[in-house]
Amino acid sequence: MAMGYSRGVIITRRPAVLLLLPLVVASSLLAATSRAREAQPLPPVEAATAAVVGSRRAPERHGLSLDFYAKTCPAVDQIVANVTAVRYRDFPAAGPGVLRLFHHDCFVEGCDASILIAPTTTAGAGQAPKVERDMEENKNLPQEAFDTVELAKMAVEKKCPGVVSCADVLALAARDYVQQAGGPSYAVKKGRKDSKVSLAGKVRGSLPRANSSVDELLRVFAGKGLGAADLVALSGAHTVGFAHCVHVLGRIYGFGGGAADPVMDARLVKALRMACPSTGGSARVVVPVDVSTPFQFDHAYYGNLQARLGLLASDQALFLDARTRPLVAELAGNKTRFFQAFVASMDRMGSIRIKKGRKGEVRKICSQHLV
Ligand SMILES: *[C@@H]1O[C@H](CO)[C@@H](O)[C@H](O)[C@H]1NC(C)=O
Ligand SMILES: *[C@@H]1O[C@H](CO)[C@@H](O)[C@H](O)[C@H]1NC(C)=O
Ligand SMILES: *[C@@H]1O[C@H](CO)[C@@H](O)[C@H](O)[C@H]1NC(C)=O
Repeated sequence: MAMGYSRGVIITRRPAVLLLLPLVVASSLLAATSRAREAQPLPPVEAATAAVVGSRRAPERHGLSLDFYAKTCPAVDQIVANVTAVRYRDFPAAGPGVLRLFHHDCFVEGCDASILIAPTTTAGAGQAPKVERDMEENKNLPQEAFDTVELAKMAVEKKCPGVVSCADVLALAARDYVQQAGGPSYAVKKGRKDSKVSLAGKVRGSLPRANSSVDELLRVFAGKGLGAADLVALSGAHTVGFAHCVHVLGRIYGFGGGAADPVMDARLVKALRMACPSTGGSARVVVPVDVSTPFQFDHAYYGNLQARLGLLASDQALFLDARTRPLVAELAGNKTRFFQAFVASMDRMGSIRIKKGRKGEVRKICSQHLV
């Protein structure tokens, strides 16, 4: 493939770029209203085959099934979809937020809705974080996303009380958003139980960061039983959503004497610097992670990486690293292939360490344990 760097000049076709427009739209749209907490996209989703990283603990996988609630709550998919359709229209930040929630849930102790548990005390100064939500990594998950899952769960409880787990509602709501944003429609397997605990201490090191190296990403993913193909496919979720300036400042000012990452396209550097001053910028401004089609769930994200238009260091790194670059090229060139890969990887991510039977509970209110 004729893609790569040659004396600093990239040889690849350039996607149509709408840099300035989405940046301006995004910050005014999302930051102007006091409701809008800046929705950050899923952190790059990583995966590494067990073979890549060696002797990682194998994930526990249990059987989930499409018809798990066939007898007890046959309309569950539709009940959730009815709620999410309205939510994603009225609160656009909720959509990518729910995708991130699902990712942050599954990567910490498995897909068990542990991320949804509300802090029990107001965290005072010097107080240790208690639940997963208290951790820095989870602080900017948008409230609209939590509310969406809670509302969907309430609708489900009305029709089928005490039957459907919050973990399953979250998996369904994430699927709904992908479809809503123009992505693939796919069936979601169900049968997850909710966790009986949510521990802040389990978060650190379990989630990728905006500046993670590919090594780090592969390691985190491998720890979840996911491979490089999963990493690249799930990172495609960054085709929607926004990131806070704090996650890009390093790339646009941090390369010696205020210089930008030389890998980043100069047009993107310029546009980002307008939105994100080196100091004194608003903490509420956000920038789109997919700078060409930020509201559309498509494969443009990968073309951006090839054109050095990746926003986060951890995104751009997928193109720069020889282990993941061919996968980026494969998905950049074929939207159908991306959709297939994304759905397969979502299914794998959604199966991480499922709790069954008495190992879990079915909460009534997603933010509260049963007892
Ligand atoms: C979903 O909404 C549609 C349209 O309002 C309604 O006809 C249908 O009964 C709803 N389905 C469920 C399962 O709530
Ligand atoms: C990555 O970002 C975190 C803060 O989010 C920071 O503490 C860390 O030093 C950064 N790592 C690198 C390698 O830049
Ligand atoms: C795109 O990928 C799909 C699914 O893998 C495949 O069937 C199709 O042939 C591919 N299209 C091209 C142009 O390569």
